[in-house]
Amino acid sequence: MRTTINILAFASLVSLVVAAPRTTVETRTLDQIYQAAQKETGTLRVAWGGDLASSSDGVTAAFRARFPGINVNITTDLSKYWDSRIDRAYQVSNRRDDGYDVAVLQALHDFPRWKAEGRLLNYKAAPWNDIYPQFVDRDGAYTGLFVFGFGQNIVYNPNHFNTPFAQNYLDYLKPEWKDKLILTYPNDDDAVLYLFKLIVQKYGWGYIDRLVAQGVQWVRGTATPSLVLSRNNTAGLSFTSYPSSADIVAREGTDVYMVWPQTGTIFKSTPVPETAKLFISFLLDNEWQNTAAGGGFATRKSIDKKGVFKQPGLDPTSYAAFMANRQQVEAWRFQFETTLGTPQGGNPTYYTV
Ligand SMILES: *[C@@H]1O[C@H](CO)[C@@H](O)[C@H](O)[C@H]1NC(C)=O
Ligand SMILES: *[C@@H]1O[C@H](CO)[C@@H](O)[C@H](O)[C@H]1NC(C)=O
Repeated sequence: MRTTINILAFASLVSLVVAAPRTTVETRTLDQIYQAAQKETGTLRVAWGGDLASSSDGVTAAFRARFPGINVNITTDLSKYWDSRIDRAYQVSNRRDDGYDVAVLQALHDFPRWKAEGRLLNYKAAPWNDIYPQFVDRDGAYTGLFVFGFGQNIVYNPNHFNTPFAQNYLDYLKPEWKDKLILTYPNDDDAVLYLFKLIVQKYGWGYIDRLVAQGVQWVRGTATPSLVLSRNNTAGLSFTSYPSSADIVAREGTDVYMVWPQTGTIFKSTPVPETAKLFISFLLDNEWQNTAAGGGFATRKSIDKKGVFKQPGLDPTSYAAFMANRQQVEAWRFQFETTLGTPQGGNPTYYTV
């Protein structure tokens, strides 16, 4: 009897699963979604992962210019603080409100968990089939929007740079690099942590000891090295930063580096779902995609001129796998903290020299 009941229960579960409608790809144009969004009231709240307060200014200005009358508040903070805030909002609201409508983060481990908790709205923006399937959730719960990375760009201030270029990480151990490196604490940013994991796997822990002995200036945030090199008129270089100031240039490195799909999602609790869809669609549309990629890697195949999946020694999915194993992440973080100490300084998003 019991078996029969279980089989019946199982059968109805199967039919439920089969009956659940698959998310279809958006067929409306941006302007049609815009029309739907204009019927909603309220401000779209976007949690934008980054480590420079101004890093969402460009996208805010472009979105507002393209869609007048839509209220949007895109705020930048470290991804690791956004997920805490979002989870706390969810907790204190008794699971009714995530506090934000959209999140765009590097904390890739959050998305599958939020999906499993039933908190994400499935949405497949129009260019869905152009996005590498490795970078999306197949149900549309979250989507890789941009490809970011560390280690590939080596930034310096050409006005003060007077040292021959390093060919690989071993070169930074040479005497000419003494007191000239500005690097982000790997124990403060999981993407930088993953880069350092790759470096340790290639060169061993002895390398880290020798690097530290070079008198590295360790800072919080991945914009900070670039800002220090710019505003502090420092001769030196960083491989954990990007050009966050006009007078800083980047050169491609020749050693290990990492990339990941910066991923976006819409929370089911949003009171402005059409506006949220408009924002995700805008980010994935050709215009913003080309701006964001700047001729480099992208999650959309037709925008990804360099071919992120064709780079020797680079696995663009490995950071997501690393992030999913929190025990491993914590073990690596504390390995570095043992050597470097706790990250010193305030929230780097508000960094000023
Ligand atoms: C925008 O959102 C941030 C983060 O939630 C908040 O601190 C700020 O007050 C908001 N700004 C406006 C104008 O609502
Ligand atoms: C600026 O450079 C000086 C000399 O290299 C250094 O001592 C100081 O810590 C730097 N300031 C910042 C904010 O990085």
